[in-house]
Amino acid sequence: MPILEVQNLTKKFGGLTATQEVSMTVEKSSITAVIGPNGAGKTTFFNMITGIYQPTSGIILLENEKINGLKPHDVSKAGISRTFQNIRLFNQMSVLENVLVGMHTHLKAGLLGILFNLPVIRKEEKEAEMHAYHLLDYVGLADLLNEKATNLSYGAQRRLEIARALAANPKVLLLDEPAAGMNPKETKDLTELIHRMRQEFNLTVILIEHDMKLVMEISEHIVVLDHGVKIAEGKPEDIRNNPKVIEAYLGSGAVQAG
Ligand SMILES: Nc1ncnc2c1ncn2[C@@H]1O[C@H](COP(=O)(O)OP(=O)(O)OP(=O)(O)O)[C@@H](O)[C@H]1O
Ligand SMILES: [Mg+2]
Repeated sequence: MPILEVQNLTKKFGGLTATQEVSMTVEKSSITAVIGPNGAGKTTFFNMITGIYQPTSGIILLENEKINGLKPHDVSKAGISRTFQNIRLFNQMSVLENVLVGMHTHLKAGLLGILFNLPVIRKEEKEAEMHAYHLLDYVGLADLLNEKATNLSYGAQRRLEIARALAANPKVLLLDEPAAGMNPKETKDLTELIHRMRQEFNLTVILIEHDMKLVMEISEHIVVLDHGVKIAEGKPEDIRNNPKVIEAYLGSGAVQAG
């Protein structure tokens, strides 16, 4: 069953067409990769799905409900969370606080409740903290709860972003270049983490990634964008040998070993 359906998604920035009539269907609990050379429109595609950009035209359906037009906050509430290509953490906050921030939009407590420190709020905060701890343990950061985010290694910061995204309890998780800056060991751990999340949370994962080894290993379905256009999609073995895909990468001068 498809959980997410994107139909003819176009985004124009002035005279530049960042994505043009891109369509894709994402099956529930699947792992899909969106690949393509730099500037292909991958992040723009995520930005439209998450409500950061409004599409110029096209439709986005989450479980058959139209979600374009929703604000990022409401897209998150509807069940789509993400991480960012350029890590967006609160650098001076602790690891634990970063996850709590990710949770706050979903807590019942309003700002007033927090200001007046109501008992019901204190209970909710306690539970939020327990849940945040659980998520940090899950991504392997339980030892670093009180460390400032800025002091973490690159790989650890990326895992913290994943924990924060999970805090919103998503159905669909979008990862924008999760392995960027990771060493081979961190990338291997990430691969396992993504598999585990899908398995245990029944999560649907869509990732943008340049690491072709990771992409080929992890994806069930791959969508290839080039200059804003979908040039191919299919199983890893189909994509690996697709002449159009090879040409797109050769043309960009960005061939990566796979
Ligand atoms: N806010 C914006 N205003 C104007 N142009 C934009 C904006 N965001 C993206 N673009 C342009 O849209 C095109 C697609 O960019 P996008 O960031 O989606 O590519 P990408 O596939 O994620 O690339 P990369 O692999 O380098 O991250 C690029 O030409 C980019 O300069
Ligand atoms: Mg990008």
